[in-house]
Amino acid sequence: MKQGYLLGNYERSPLTIESGSGCSIFDMHGKRYLDMITGIGVNAFGYCHPRLTSVITEQAQRCVHTSNIVSHRHQESLAEKLCRLSGLDRAFFSNSGTEAMEAALKAVRARSTPGKSRIVALQRSFHGRTLGSLALTGQPELRQRFVFSGAEVTFIPPNWLAALRDAVAEDTAAVVLEPVLGEGGIYPLDASYLQQARALTNTYSAYLVADEVQCGLGRTGKPFAYQWCGVQPDIVVTAKPLAAGLPLGATLFTEDAAQWLPPHSHGSTFGGGPLACRVAIEVLDMMEAALPHIQEMSTYFRHLLDALCLKHGVITEIRSKGLMFGLQLDQPGRPYVEAALRHGLLINCTQGSVLRLLPPYIAGPAEFAQTAQILDAVFTESSAASSRVHG
Ligand SMILES: Cc1ncc(COP(=O)(O)O)c(C=O)c1O
Repeated sequence: MKQGYLLGNYERSPLTIESGSGCSIFDMHGKRYLDMITGIGVNAFGYCHPRLTSVITEQAQRCVHTSNIVSHRHQESLAEKLCRLSGLDRAFFSNSGTEAMEAALKAVRARSTPGKSRIVALQRSFHGRTLGSLALTGQPELRQRFVFSGAEVTFIPPNWLAALRDAVAEDTAAVVLEPVLGEGGIYPLDASYLQQARALTNTYSAYLVADEVQCGLGRTGKPFAYQWCGVQPDIVVTAKPLAAGLPLGATLFTEDAAQWLPPHSHGSTFGGGPLACRVAIEVLDMMEAALPHIQEMSTYFRHLLDALCLKHGVITEIRSKGLMFGLQLDQPGRPYVEAALRHGLLINCTQGSVLRLLPPYIAGPAEFAQTAQILDAVFTESSAASSRVHG
């Protein structure tokens, strides 16, 4: 087969996937890999979960797509469920995290007035790759060459209260943040920081927008990560695991924020189709039931990782919240990702030196113990190899 037709925008691992089952994926030769990155947080219930496969099949036989010029019952039911879980009032459906963020930004822009249009966002944040979301992404190397001039965004360091207090003022239209920075290297925001962000946005009549694309929908052990901090955002953005791998994003609004997107102001051809919504309803039911297990496994795996951190000097810090784990290394992480792959473990590296794990919610003690064992072997081999070189 001729190769070379794909755009060269991805730097891919050498692994080619053929199929998946539970927490494992299989390559074309039938080799099994334990997947601890789950399609970057999408396959929260693993591969081919019988309950989800059956719902997908059943709905595919009824109706996959309708468009939004008509209604179908699953969209309204899903909206109701998401609003109940988030404490918000209205839902808009799109097809990805970045699109869900764009809808949030359009509401913020529509409400802005001259002198009140600045957005405060976090350094190291990630909000997506479309131009609006990119404008808020606190990683200059991703923004440069693409962002249009005129985007009024102030980037501040996460978890630094004084910087937050300095940045939010009369001219602020919104504060946009990830309650746990994902691509940025797994940095949970302190409860006091989120509470301060809420208090300041209230004082200055700005919106608080929570990007829960990576940390939401059970990933931290609550439906939404901001719920650990006792704050209620005006807009919440979610996607990744929502429809178990079918493209679906949701933007959730308070009644007040929703008023800025009236008829004809926004829309989507595919967003919120019957197949994706039907599956998402099932995912949310499963997610609610899984929350105690997620919290239990979070503690269990964190202990295993702490032991690895004590044993291997290359790990300088472990950061985690729920089933989001970042192993901060004192050197590039990529060789460790490749070594883990050779041992049959799929993880990834973000920010150059952070090994990131976003395990499936269905993983149990056996999978976590195996993961820790493989990581231990990888770090042991690497330190043996470097002492051979230096010794
Ligand atoms: C916090 C956050 N926001 C937005 C996005 C963009 O989502 P998508 O890739 O589905 O557009 C991501 C993707 O990783 C993310 O982690």
